[in-house]
Amino acid sequence: MKFFVDSADIAEIRELAETGLVDGVTTNPSLIAKSGGDMRETIRRICAVVPGPVSAEVAALETDDMVAEGRALAGIAPNVTVKVPLTWSGLKACRALNQAGISVNVTLCFSATQALLAAKSGAAFVSPFVGRLDDIGLDGMELIEDIRAIYDNYAEIGTSILAASIRSTNHVRDAALAGADVATIPPAVLRKLAEHPLTDKGLDAFLADWKTTGQSIL
Ligand code: E4P
Repeated sequence: MKFFVDSADIAEIRELAETGLVDGVTTNPSLIAKSGGDMRETIRRICAVVPGPVSAEVAALETDDMVAEGRALAGIAPNVTVKVPLTWSGLKACRALNQAGISVNVTLCFSATQALLAAKSGAAFVSPFVGRLDDIGLDGMELIEDIRAIYDNYAEIGTSILAASIRSTNHVRDAALAGADVATIPPAVLRKLAEHPLTDKGLDAFLADWKTTGQSIL
């Protein structure tokens, strides 16, 4: 499973990328706004830090405008993936951008049939929003399972399932169990993945015992 960082905070992304565990980045207009930076410059800097796919989202609503924005975003760096919303206009833009050789992430996916449309439109990634479905009392992970089952029925589908709106380490575990190809994870959740109180407790005990030996390894 690939790990993307769900952030537009360049300092956070750089720090996490140093672990060697970051395969890509996703941004959205809200994350860009939160970062406070210029979008093009922010995307350019992220692309220089992470060689994998970096999603940058269009802001237009009509197909032609989305395609124009998508082309501009793709021109920032070779590893930009253009994000378009899962609307009819977005799907048409996805097809056009894909035909132009530009990688597309179809975002704001909330149903399995929407994910099927994204695949048929040539999306490199589809982003089902797990947390936002949970927020309204539905089961976000069930959507990942459904999309996985559908995509696996058709060998011609090359779209990767990118589990988005991840809110917890359990979401990451469950997305992996459900067969998501990628999870895009907020920095705070990504950091928590390595943490366990029994790891800390065990390490404290090992180090205390080691001290009693009076030895040193080097
Ligand atoms: C990433 O591609 C999505 O935009 C992001 O995961 C949405 O997360 P949120 O629902 O926590 O805003």
